[in-house]
Amino acid sequence: MAFYGKGDSSWFTHDRFGMFIHWGLYSMPARHEWIRHYEEISNEDYQKYFEQFDPDLFDAREWAAAAKNAGMKYVVFTTKHHEGFCMFDSQYTDYKSTNTKCGRDLLREVVDAFRAEGLRIGLYHSLIDWHHPDFTIDSIHPLRNHPDREALNQGRDMSRYRTYLHNQAREILTNYGDIDIIWFDFSYPKAEYNPKGHDEWGSEELVKMIRSIRPSILINNRLDLPGSADITTPEQNTPEEPVRDENGNPVVWEGCQTFSGSWGYHRDELTWKSEKQCIDMLINHVARSGNLLMNVGPTSRGYLDHRAMERLQGFARWMKYCSRSIYGCGMAPEEFPEPRDSRYTYNPETRRLYLHLMNWPFKYINAKNLAGKVAYAQFLHDGSEVKIRENDPNAPHTHMSVNSSAGGISLMLPVVKPEITVPVIEIILK
Ligand code: GLC
Repeated sequence: MAFYGKGDSSWFTHDRFGMFIHWGLYSMPARHEWIRHYEEISNEDYQKYFEQFDPDLFDAREWAAAAKNAGMKYVVFTTKHHEGFCMFDSQYTDYKSTNTKCGRDLLREVVDAFRAEGLRIGLYHSLIDWHHPDFTIDSIHPLRNHPDREALNQGRDMSRYRTYLHNQAREILTNYGDIDIIWFDFSYPKAEYNPKGHDEWGSEELVKMIRSIRPSILINNRLDLPGSADITTPEQNTPEEPVRDENGNPVVWEGCQTFSGSWGYHRDELTWKSEKQCIDMLINHVARSGNLLMNVGPTSRGYLDHRAMERLQGFARWMKYCSRSIYGCGMAPEEFPEPRDSRYTYNPETRRLYLHLMNWPFKYINAKNLAGKVAYAQFLHDGSEVKIRENDPNAPHTHMSVNSSAGGISLMLPVVKPEITVPVIEIILK
């Protein structure tokens, strides 16, 4: 497999938690960012959104503050989604935010606001472009069922689109300061009609150009170019084991997830995850040495709606006390199997094991292979001691004994679950 350089993932695997932002013209129809695909909307019929787009309530500082309070350490923002509309002042197109009523370089405001809050910057950039005149109609294009599809494809020249794609990649990586992640989306080399993969994107040349501009940048794995990815990006699912490459080696991975059933703002989509589901998701990713990139879809007025804000505030309440079990943590050593209904995370620097009680047990929880190894244990939410009973294999079993296995311990708990979404016990090893 060819080698295309490697980005610096040390900060990434420490910080663990980021905000994904899907924002574009699709926030106006407000029924999914794939609206042009689902409803087979032509450029002409989609133009009304360009003409009316005016996010008058947009203040990137509000978004950045919400992300920081939630404990997020980086942001990935859609510079351009499949619709082709550019959220930045590109010199290569007129189809951009600075040419709408708002007249603003929205990417500039996002980058400045999030950087001011100390978050690192990632840029999502769609390889797909349903608006560009040279992007050939294919199996997922809005005009895929058009009766004149073949005629419409005449004259479309993907080499011209490739040049456009590379030029815009260069300008977003050059004009907006030091970018930490470039997040492309997505390749479909096995599609039935006009498939698109590394050849169509010019992925090899694109990666070499990116590395020449920002050698330490992190590149995701959607360019259809094996060996070029720093980050593997499962989405809308939570891996039960650490993600591995085709040779079985663990890779740096980041799961991206939505609060609801849509990445872009969707007014009527009601499958919003509970606060507990969201926090469980973060824990489940870090417990398998992954990152979580949690998505928000702002409204076309430019603000995060109450449903998104409520969940971000839920993260904020939990991370205020429990972020020590997330930052700098990953999967626990195999010698410590997870107790019932629990997840471990582990910080190898501090040698602290974090026991996340996903379901509140009655009075105690047993943990294997920790006898003689624990210096102290405490709840993170209030710093109160958690008393430990080491298992004495010779002690008589009575109707009152707790059945910890040999070499195990029992952590003694209050009967009533503490007032925090997922209680966490910090186990300080000797
Ligand atoms: C899926 C969605 C796309 C979104 C992406 C984020 O591919 O179709 O709209 O941007 O997930 O990973």
